[in-house]
Amino acid sequence: GKVRIVGVPLDLGADRRGIDMGPDALRNDGLVEALEKLGIDVQDTGNIMLPPRPPKKKYDSRLKNYEEVIFACQRVRDFVGRSIADGYFPLVIGGDHSIAMGTTAALSTFYNKIGIIWIDAHGDFNTEDTTISGNIHGMSFATSCGRGSKNLVGKLGVRTSVSEANCVLIGARDLDPLERELLKKSNVTVFTMRDIDEQGMHKIMKKALKIACDGTDALHVSFDIDVMDPMEAPGVGTPVQGGMTYREAHLAMEMISECPNLKSLEVVELNPILDRQNVTGKLAIGLISSAFGKKIL
Ligand code: ARG
Ligand code: MN
Ligand code: MN
Ligand code: MN
Repeated sequence: GKVRIVGVPLDLGADRRGIDMGPDALRNDGLVEALEKLGIDVQDTGNIMLPPRPPKKKYDSRLKNYEEVIFACQRVRDFVGRSIADGYFPLVIGGDHSIAMGTTAALSTFYNKIGIIWIDAHGDFNTEDTTISGNIHGMSFATSCGRGSKNLVGKLGVRTSVSEANCVLIGARDLDPLERELLKKSNVTVFTMRDIDEQGMHKIMKKALKIACDGTDALHVSFDIDVMDPMEAPGVGTPVQGGMTYREAHLAMEMISECPNLKSLEVVELNPILDRQNVTGKLAIGLISSAFGKKIL
């Protein structure tokens, strides 16, 4: 296969600085080499150029750093669109999770019906009206489903090819109160950590893939590294206790790699400043390798 990588050194969709260094940390830890070892033709296009960080604002906004986040998402959208048109599989590395809005915007112009598997400790299902933090990375899944105000959905294009009936959230364990209500009322299927504990990852992924691939022509996987247990992945911006194990996450990615519908992948929220001897970066590279078909045997 042919994979084109872009890094998005954006952390303005989140509260903490440091996630902007995620893409370069993944490169230093050998992302490109790991994929080349799998026989993949890898083209790393470097990082998206972002304007210099704005002076620290006094926030009263429900959409913090709105202009900057939209700018980055539009560049991501262009990258993903161009990659698909050129026959490459787009791999977007973050950066905070707000950049997913750019990816899904591009995909929805290329495909008729998209399934999304969102792997995350959080729901990212806030809107401008439900958010407590005002951080846009907590709104990117809702926006990808076409929810929320025109400020996000409208700016990043049509979402008619995303139906919540084909969207799945896996690994959730930290939802804001109104976000939780919105998710429950939605048609998104949510598999919480409890579901994984009770049913096991194999069963959960079978169900998730069936839902996301049912009648769709493209599968997008959005992987937020904070879905992992913080003991295994300390280098994330918003860690939450009680996450996925190394084995569970690898099984999920291995099963995803076998899905012929898989058309794009993004891996986000790596914070190298909070990492410990690069374990989180290396873990992410291993998981990406599994998603691209690395096999033990
Ligand atoms: N729900 C919280 C918020 O809206 C946390 C979101 C965390 N999102 C993430 N992509 N890590 O701010
Ligand atoms: Mn994402
Ligand atoms: Mn998260
Ligand atoms: Mn997220």
